[in-house]
Amino acid sequence: MTRYKINNLEEYFKDYKKSVREPKKFWDKIASENFTWYQEWEKVVDFNMAEADIKWFVNAKVNMTKNCIDRHLAKKGDKTAIIFEPNDPSEEALHISYTELHERVCKMANVLREQGVQKGDRVCIYLPMIPELAITTLACARIGAVHSVVFAGFSASAVAARINDSDCKMIITSDGGYRGNKTIDLKGIIDEALADTPCVTAVLVVKRTNSAVNMQEGRDQWLQPLLDAASDNNTAEIMDAEDPLFILYTSGSTGKPKGMVHTTAGYMVYAAYTFKNVFSYEDNDIFWCTADIGWITGHSYILYGPLLNGATTVIFEGVPSYPDYSRFWEVIVKHKVTQFYTAPTAIRALAKESLDYVQKYQLDTLKVIGSVGEPINEEAWHWYNDHVGNKRCPIVDTWWQTETGGILISPLPFVTPTKPTYATLPLPGIQPVLMDEKRNEIEGNQVVGSLCIKFPWPGIARTIWGDHERYKETYFSAFPGKYFTGDGALRDEVGYYRITGRVDDVVIVSGHNLGTAPIEDAINEHPAVAESAIVGFPHDIKGNALYGFVILKETGEYRDRENLSKEINQQISNQIGPIAKLDKIQFVSGLPKTRSGKIMRRILRKIAEGDYSNFGDTSTLLNPEIVEEIKNGKV
Ligand code: WTA
Repeated sequence: MTRYKINNLEEYFKDYKKSVREPKKFWDKIASENFTWYQEWEKVVDFNMAEADIKWFVNAKVNMTKNCIDRHLAKKGDKTAIIFEPNDPSEEALHISYTELHERVCKMANVLREQGVQKGDRVCIYLPMIPELAITTLACARIGAVHSVVFAGFSASAVAARINDSDCKMIITSDGGYRGNKTIDLKGIIDEALADTPCVTAVLVVKRTNSAVNMQEGRDQWLQPLLDAASDNNTAEIMDAEDPLFILYTSGSTGKPKGMVHTTAGYMVYAAYTFKNVFSYEDNDIFWCTADIGWITGHSYILYGPLLNGATTVIFEGVPSYPDYSRFWEVIVKHKVTQFYTAPTAIRALAKESLDYVQKYQLDTLKVIGSVGEPINEEAWHWYNDHVGNKRCPIVDTWWQTETGGILISPLPFVTPTKPTYATLPLPGIQPVLMDEKRNEIEGNQVVGSLCIKFPWPGIARTIWGDHERYKETYFSAFPGKYFTGDGALRDEVGYYRITGRVDDVVIVSGHNLGTAPIEDAINEHPAVAESAIVGFPHDIKGNALYGFVILKETGEYRDRENLSKEINQQISNQIGPIAKLDKIQFVSGLPKTRSGKIMRRILRKIAEGDYSNFGDTSTLLNPEIVEEIKNGKV
């Protein structure tokens, strides 16, 4: 028997074995018993890993929002689907029932259609964490438009690049956004972005801050009057299982962002199944994930996973430090949160503050607490366990990626014994392997290697928007026949996995993936810069911070290094966003390079970490003398 919810370790092992032995049967049963389909599949899965060609639930017909909303209406219409907790605690929280959500999504879907958005069109959503973000995203899914949510912390040029890459015809934004004690001029950023995006013909603007904004005649419209005039009667589009549901951009090893494409049925089944099991979700739970919907964590575990299970999900507009460091704990108590899911960087930041902030609150509604986005260090794990979970709530250290659609490796609460810093065991359907440098699978336990997955699962991204070759090359070529995650991992004596970090040129800063290449591209556009190299180095709160080594052109006009550093960071802010700013900048006369001209980042990483003990094999270095110079000038 395959069950939707695993209750103990024995059931886990049974289901896991079954999912490996008979993956088709395993997913067939979960998909057919827990969702509403217009038409079921002809084949559960069809794949060719060498070509990165993967299809799940072939030829099935389905609509995501029918499953997220409509099918709950009869029994759970009055139940709260979304709790909106505003940035300012004195503003009232909103409770949106499934019935109200249905009405609002239907109206929004009708507005989109009236504005000429059709099935398959791309719509960019650039909004703060307000209910409209969820509603517009779901409305796209309802009419089969492909949503591309861009995190509202990205700069104008980063948004423009993402809009152009996927040829979006509409953008939905707001007059502004609140973040702690700041108001952010989102419409201003969009106006700047749209100077360079010929594909966009319509802009819908949500009112949030009542800030004065510029509305361009013929292009920009306030959303509310359109909604007021719209009918709440909407027929959902019948989608093919493999129709794209959304595009979500992630950093890569070249300057161009990668638009990961997730399709409808596989993503739906996987988000729902993992939500139910990883958070041990029960009917009356109140689930809170603190991520932004602009990241995959928000897509899968604020929006889709919870709504597919008919859950109540919290959308929090604010930040953990406003009005003070007890905000998270206050919100947990206020809304009786049962599952709390956040990132190690937030845990570390809060652990630095006085314990009073957390101890003031009785967090006894909590049952499960989770972590995602980067390795959680031992100290943060214990603080979380002692002070938030009160040694009572299992910590689910969930490992996954934008590309995987949902969680792949994680303890199941009350099922898998946890171990600090370990993501522990793969979920049913997931077959992880560790690979050595010679591309051989490393058997046995107590081993380290590059983490790959050797069999597809329903939630895996299907391609990179407009560039299938790049998808194949990035994920399926390093270890032929397998999906390569870009992460390193170790497997302990009982088979538990611990993720050790990225093995490629992506650095995770405060839980955000940052490819070093786009940052280097931004720096190199500064007129005084000849070349640059970015590496990560350990940081107490952010996990990693960025260290830039910069070679200047010999123009001599920039004597003031301090100003120059500021300008470089401003350049990065403009091009990508403030999250990608460098903590340290060192001006150097050269970079360590191999004879083939590749920068030896390994050495730069060691220098940035202040570890000069062993630079490894440097025999292929063209300019060993530069290493001494850089070491001596370290900032
Ligand atoms: C890292 C976030 C260790 C990892 C869902 C991965 C983690 C990248 C964990 C994906 C974890 C995520 N332990 N590392 N529990 N979770 N990572 O695409 O390096 O924003 O490849 O997806 O974050 O980040 P992304």
